[in-house]
Amino acid sequence: MHSMENSQYTDLVKAALDARAMAYVPYSHYAVGAALLTEEGEIYRGGNIENASYGATNCAERTAIFKAVSEGRRRFAAIAIAGGMEGCEPVDYAWPCGICRQVMREFAGKDFRVLVARSASDYKEYLLEELLPCGFGGESIK
Ligand code: THU
Repeated sequence: MHSMENSQYTDLVKAALDARAMAYVPYSHYAVGAALLTEEGEIYRGGNIENASYGATNCAERTAIFKAVSEGRRRFAAIAIAGGMEGCEPVDYAWPCGICRQVMREFAGKDFRVLVARSASDYKEYLLEELLPCGFGGESIK
């Protein structure tokens, strides 16, 4: 874990907190927001999108990543994540699920950071490698 104040990261965390407003969560009522920073400095936001067939739900992180990749972006610097019950401020840090960690791994460089936030001023910073050690990647199947 790394903790350092960085204004670019503070903006990214705020974007993740804002993105919670767009989450579609009629079943769990747990609203997650993610904000993905491209290496060029753009931010792509995403919320979780649930489905009556629960397994078809898409997490906030993957919404943001798929939005960016589908717009031609593939080089990312960081992702911020915030989650909590709909209409309430986050109480705990929102950790990315295993599937989202694997999807991050696909597009992350060695330096890719994951920020888990409770508020704009209360967040923790990790390297993806810390959250997904010994991960499986495309280099293994070349
Ligand atoms: N969820 C995310 O959006 N990201 C995660 O990494 C973990 C879980 C969502 C999926 C579902 O809509 C809700 O949180 C409860 O599982």
